[in-house]
Amino acid sequence: MTKDLTLLGIESSCDDTAAAVVRGTTILSSVVYGQTSLHMEFGGVVPEIAARAHAEKLDHCIEEALEIAKVQLTDLDGIAVTAGPGLIGGVLSGVMCAKGIAAATGLPLIGVNHLAGHALTPRLTDQVPYPYLMLLVSGGHCQFLIVEGHDSYRRIGGTIDDAPGEAFDKTARILGLPQPGGPSVEKAAAKGNSKRFVMPRPLLNQPGCDMSYSGLKTAILRARDGVVEKAGGLTRQDQADLSAGFQDAVTAILTEKTRRALETYLALSPETKTFAIAGGVAANGPIRAALQGLCTDTGTTFVAPPLALCTDNAAMIAYAGIERMMHGEADDLTLSARPRWPLDDQAAPMLGSGKKGAKA
Ligand code: KG4
Ligand code: ZN
Repeated sequence: MTKDLTLLGIESSCDDTAAAVVRGTTILSSVVYGQTSLHMEFGGVVPEIAARAHAEKLDHCIEEALEIAKVQLTDLDGIAVTAGPGLIGGVLSGVMCAKGIAAATGLPLIGVNHLAGHALTPRLTDQVPYPYLMLLVSGGHCQFLIVEGHDSYRRIGGTIDDAPGEAFDKTARILGLPQPGGPSVEKAAAKGNSKRFVMPRPLLNQPGCDMSYSGLKTAILRARDGVVEKAGGLTRQDQADLSAGFQDAVTAILTEKTRRALETYLALSPETKTFAIAGGVAANGPIRAALQGLCTDTGTTFVAPPLALCTDNAAMIAYAGIERMMHGEADDLTLSARPRWPLDDQAAPMLGSGKKGAKA
């Protein structure tokens, strides 16, 4: 029997500084230092502030991950680091740090695509066999991928503009609800009437699995302005009803597009029948329930990794590094940081994608 590989993972592509130690499919430690408070007053992630914070925190984060895992650098088989896509300053901080450790220890350096980290998480948590259908849905990503292997991804659709998480955050801002917007809009929506403000469902009637969310933000803004103009302000019930209308539209779009993506996937790969979700928006109760219902209807296994592994973390980077190493792959000290790095470079570039979310 071959020994399980033990890797240190490093993630710094957006606003989470993270380090983790993973052995095989066992997470020995996973440390995440969020930066939400640093960016709060700016209403979004400020790349320069993020990069500085990563550079300051990475050492401590890595030390903590090694300590919790009770692992020395000499016990490791390699260093995996997010080499893109993401905010370039942050990605560079991580890559430089990983190169330093690799140069000092002589350990192999493995560059990992951040999106591959998310996409391979169901294998880390549930040992899901290839091929499976994956929906990455967060503040920066929204795409359907058929994951055929550790470096083989077929993108069958995604957002052509904003990611749904970004739309949740913007909606919260418009309605005066706290950030991050997803959980506060979900909470408000639970007390709301989704029929009072029926929001548009862009691209719903177009064929295929592409989606659009930017018009939804404008629609929420207009609906809010309409209420404010008439009543002079928003009541809690207005906030709840607008939130419910918005969440209903996102749920409807994601459900219909997932139904089509499942159809495509099941036609191509009828033998494995697994659908997995990742990303912060996967935490949303009604969205999760709707997608789970689709899987039940089609006899497909539904996999939703625990939330801490759905959102940005370094355990997924270490694990993706393990899969690369198991295939004899590694990089060297010339590894470069990439702001853009599509998983499926055969897929046609999508209009507007990559311009909005930090990692879209
Ligand atoms: O995956 P993630 O932590 O970071 C990246 O964007 O990469 O996702 C964060 C996003 C935010 O936009 C947040 O508002 C959204 O996920 N989110 C939610 C919920 N919890 C977090 N959206 C809808 N419902 C939620 N319960
Ligand atoms: Zn991410």
